[in-house]
Amino acid sequence: MAYVSATDMVIDARNRKYAVGHFNLNNMEFIRAFLLAAQETQSPMILGVSGSTAKYMGGYRSIVGMVKPFIDHLAITVPVALHADHGNFAQVLDAIDAGFSSVMFDGSSLPFEENLHKSEQLVEICRKKGISLECEVNGIGGEEHGVVKVGGTADPEQCRRLGLIGINMLAAGIGNIHGKYPADWPGLHFDLLEEIARITDYTPLVLHGGSQIPANMLRRAIALGISKINVNTECQMAFAAAVREYIEQGKDRIGTGYSLQTLLSPGVEAIQRVAMDKMMLFGSVGKA
Ligand code: 13P
Repeated sequence: MAYVSATDMVIDARNRKYAVGHFNLNNMEFIRAFLLAAQETQSPMILGVSGSTAKYMGGYRSIVGMVKPFIDHLAITVPVALHADHGNFAQVLDAIDAGFSSVMFDGSSLPFEENLHKSEQLVEICRKKGISLECEVNGIGGEEHGVVKVGGTADPEQCRRLGLIGINMLAAGIGNIHGKYPADWPGLHFDLLEEIARITDYTPLVLHGGSQIPANMLRRAIALGISKINVNTECQMAFAAAVREYIEQGKDRIGTGYSLQTLLSPGVEAIQRVAMDKMMLFGSVGKA
């Protein structure tokens, strides 16, 4: 079965200097599109589920119950991890219980010692169950949990302490932002990334806010230790634009063009294309 944790994926990505794409689910159409993209490009892939998406889609259990049979139904053979994105402690435990193969504990809004302590507890739990664990130090900029923050930068010493407790992936702010990047965004802080990679003994690093970052910056970030890149906004924008075009052309008024499977299919094709382009750029194609 293609359903696995992200542990081996990100180690291979770090060693061979590419990045695994993490694509956020928003509804059933996203599951289909991303699974097809990964299979077609023979890429390992991580499907991310935020707490709010979990609520929208009927809870973590419903999502596991949908993704696992979907993998079989589409005869997917490439490795796929199902990852709880930005969970608080209770959400992470819930996702683990529901059968997620990977989790992110986002303790970045907690005092650092508490973040560290809770992360240590989760290292033990995840290790026993063979689940991969991502933790976050400092907040990543942009709109996260409904709060808008500027592109933050992580404290290297906190990265070192959190990165070396046995977690599988570390998310640290290097000027990246969730959501759309403003026109005056100064870019990623590569010196800081280099320092974090070294000080954490090359723990696989995660770049959140992977939408709209120029290709040359992403390539440089991967070369310096980014092993997982999270993408959501760009897919949602592509989906919305494709469906908007379909409706603006009046296609929903022709025959059974109102059928939701037909009406949403341009959106599915659009995000499949975005995901495949990202996999190409991240260098994960053929690495499954
Ligand atoms: P974007 O929505 O900016 O692509 O970020 C996605 C993300 O980092 C999810 O954790």
